[in-house]
Amino acid sequence: EKGNYRHFMAKEIAEQPDVVGHTLAHHLDMAKGRARIPEGIDFKKLDRIAFSACGTAYYAGLVARYWFEKLARIPVDIDIASEFRYREPPLKPGGLAILISQSGETADTLATLRHCKEQGMQIASVVNVTSSTIARESDAILPTLGGPEIGVASTKAFTCQLATLAALAVAAGKARGVLSDDDEQRLVASLVELPRLMAETLKLEPQIERIAKDLAKAQDALYLGRGTSFPIAMEGALKLKEISYIHAEGYAAGELKHGPIALVDEKMPVVVLAPYDTLFEKTVSNMQEVAARGGKVLLVTDPDGAKEAAGEFETLIVPKSYAFVTPMIYAIPMQLLAYHTAVFMGTDVDQPRNLAKSVTVE
Ligand code: F6R
Repeated sequence: EKGNYRHFMAKEIAEQPDVVGHTLAHHLDMAKGRARIPEGIDFKKLDRIAFSACGTAYYAGLVARYWFEKLARIPVDIDIASEFRYREPPLKPGGLAILISQSGETADTLATLRHCKEQGMQIASVVNVTSSTIARESDAILPTLGGPEIGVASTKAFTCQLATLAALAVAAGKARGVLSDDDEQRLVASLVELPRLMAETLKLEPQIERIAKDLAKAQDALYLGRGTSFPIAMEGALKLKEISYIHAEGYAAGELKHGPIALVDEKMPVVVLAPYDTLFEKTVSNMQEVAARGGKVLLVTDPDGAKEAAGEFETLIVPKSYAFVTPMIYAIPMQLLAYHTAVFMGTDVDQPRNLAKSVTVE
C-alpha cells in the first residue's frame, strides 16, 4: 500500500536507503568487508562480459561497464536487448552474459538470454522478481532486494540494480587480482555507507520541488554528465519524459558542442550532473557555454563542487561520497525532479500514458 504517500513512485523513491541496504547486505559480507562471489562464476577465466537490458535497466548496465572495466580490468560489451539480438555479435561459448531486468519478463531481454544460451554462453541475471522467467532460465541469479515496484517508472529497482552490480564489480576485481584486500575493504566500506548518504540526499526534496515548478513550464530539457554520471543523465531524462511528458535528452557533457548546444536558448533548462572529481573543470566549461547562450543551468554537485562553481549556477548540493557510489546518489535528485514536475503538471504519475510495467511483447 501507499501508506502516507501520494503515489507509489514517491514511496518507492523514499524506500531506497532501506532496500539498497538490504540488497547490499545480500551481496556483501559487511563484517569482513568483502564482496561475495556468486557461485559458478569464475571471473578469472573470462576475457569479456556481455551485458544487455532495456530502458532503465540498460542504463544500470552502462554504469556497470565503467565499474567492471576500471575495477576488474575486464572489457564489457553492452547493448540494448532489442538491438543485441539482431546485431549478430560474435559470442564466445563459455563467455558470460549478464541480463538486467526488474520484472524478469521483458520480451527482448528474455530473447537475448535465450540467444546467448544457444551460443553456449553462461547466463547470469540481475532480477528483482526471482520467480520470473529470466531468473528461471539463468545459470546464476543476482537478486535485487527492492521488493515489489508498483510505479511504472523504475526507481528503487534501478538503484538496487546498481548496488548489485557495484558489489559484483568489486568481487570481479578481487577475483581477477586487480584489487588488493585493502582496495576491496575500501570499496565495500563506501557501499556500506551508501544507504545513509542516500537518506541524506532525500532531504533535498523541498528544494527540488521548488525547482520542479519551473521545470514544469519547459518544453524540452537537456541532461549532461561525464563518466558514470552520463548514464545517470540519460536516466534523468528518461524519468522526465516518462512521467511529465516533457521532451528530454541525456548527453555526455563532452558531446554538447557536437550538436545539442544548437538547442540551447533562454527557454532550455540544462541539468548538469557533476560530482567534484577530475572531470569537474571540463564540465564547468560546458556549463559556461550553456549559460553564455542564456540556457538555465541546474548544477547537481557535492559541497566541493558547489564551492568551486561559486554560486554561478542554481545548485543542488548532494552529500560528498567516494566517486564509486555517486551513481546511486545522483539518481535520487533525478527521480525527485521528474516526480515533482509530473505532480505539478497533474499527470498520472504511477500509470503514465502508453506505458506498461512489464513489456512482454517485442
Ligand atoms: C523506465 C522503465 C523501463 C524499464 C524497461 C525494462 O522507468 O521502467 O524503461 O526499465 O522496460 O524493464 P525490466 O527491468 O522489467 O526488464
